Amino acid sequence: MSEIVLTKLNKHYGGMHHAVRNIDLTIGDKEFITLVGPSGCGKSTTLRMIAGLEEITSGEIRIGGTLVNHLPPRDRDVAMVFQNYALYQHMSVFDNLAFGLRNKKVPEAEIKKAIRNAADILGLGELMQRKPRQLSGGQQQRVALGRCIVRNPKVFLFDEPLSNLDAKLRIQMRVEIKRLRARVPTTSVFVTHDQVEAMTLGDRVVVMKDGYIQQCGTPLQVYGEPANKFVAGFIGSPSMNFFEVGIHAQDGELIAQTPFLRARVSERYKAALAAWNGRTVILGVRPEHLRVNASDVDPIGKVEIEVIEQLGSEILLETRAGDLSMTVARVNPQLPVAAGDVIQLSVPSDQLHFFDPETESAIR
Ligand SMILES: Nc1ncnc2c1ncn2[C@@H]1O[C@H](COP(=O)(O)OP(=O)(O)OP(=O)(O)O)[C@@H](O)[C@H]1O
Ligand SMILES: [Mg+2]
Repeated sequence: MSEIVLTKLNKHYGGMHHAVRNIDLTIGDKEFITLVGPSGCGKSTTLRMIAGLEEITSGEIRIGGTLVNHLPPRDRDVAMVFQNYALYQHMSVFDNLAFGLRNKKVPEAEIKKAIRNAADILGLGELMQRKPRQLSGGQQQRVALGRCIVRNPKVFLFDEPLSNLDAKLRIQMRVEIKRLRARVPTTSVFVTHDQVEAMTLGDRVVVMKDGYIQQCGTPLQVYGEPANKFVAGFIGSPSMNFFEVGIHAQDGELIAQTPFLRARVSERYKAALAAWNGRTVILGVRPEHLRVNASDVDPIGKVEIEVIEQLGSEILLETRAGDLSMTVARVNPQLPVAAGDVIQLSVPSDQLHFFDPETESAIR
């Protein structure tokens, strides 16, 4: 068992900067967790505290039931992959892979076997005698992964390992990490600021901001039921549209209204929003949930198309009504619209999200 349990974990740098705040998180045995959030939110600091590379200010870290607060990195049985590979440039791929095991005085025959296994998993067979500078970025990153696999650690820690790669290679490596995951199931924490990477790799996604965990859930939970406005805006691309709406009751219904839009609150949110009758809340709607000139869903209002972005598989419309602007995304490049057109928008009412304007927490 190699569950990781973080309890009331805090990090102050130099007594002043509070980089990680009161983090409580349990990462299950063999679970793959992604930590995602904007630059400076405390992702690397959290990871480095788990690795033992950063002293913790307060709280507890347990790995496989053992309190590791004061254990040096080498005694924690974790392997870490960084953004910049950190390979030994003067050593061959084989020696890079063997380095950690030789340090541990593992017999050479066993080392060979472990390396053959890792090379097989990662397709490194041909490259064994090359030096890192003779490898592409993707190959170097694969060697870095290989170095972790041969150690057969309790825990894998990844700090933005794909961010130095170009877009295409990144996607390939993402799939490769998924494959690796299936063949070598190991408790893993993967840090990224790329929400697509976080969503596609994580069994659960932890969204951080300003040192706090904002939400921890499956990819579908953080997408479908964001805990607050920050998570709602951070997860999903293009970002969720937000605007202030007044809530009022009418004929037994609750209506969310601006001068330009009007939407009915679905049964799902009615009870929670009843308390907001006569007040203002923030309405959120994802670009991909908006329909254009649909006849089967109640319209919410008319907007004018300002800009059309044709992406081939998808079309993005930047639209406006008065001072309200809204992005619409449709997977229909044939949509018969042009800039300047006025279109009718509609959205199924259970795909509306509501947020408290003060706390920004979801209202449900
Ligand atoms: N050694 C340090 N001394 C002082 N402050 C630090 C130190 N390391 C990090 N910080 C600060 O702590 C906060 C969290 O940093 P951290 O590196 O964990 O962010 P991150 O989420 O990994 O960001 P990025 O996506 O840019 O890598 C930042 O405000 C950063 O400036
Ligand atoms: Mg970082």
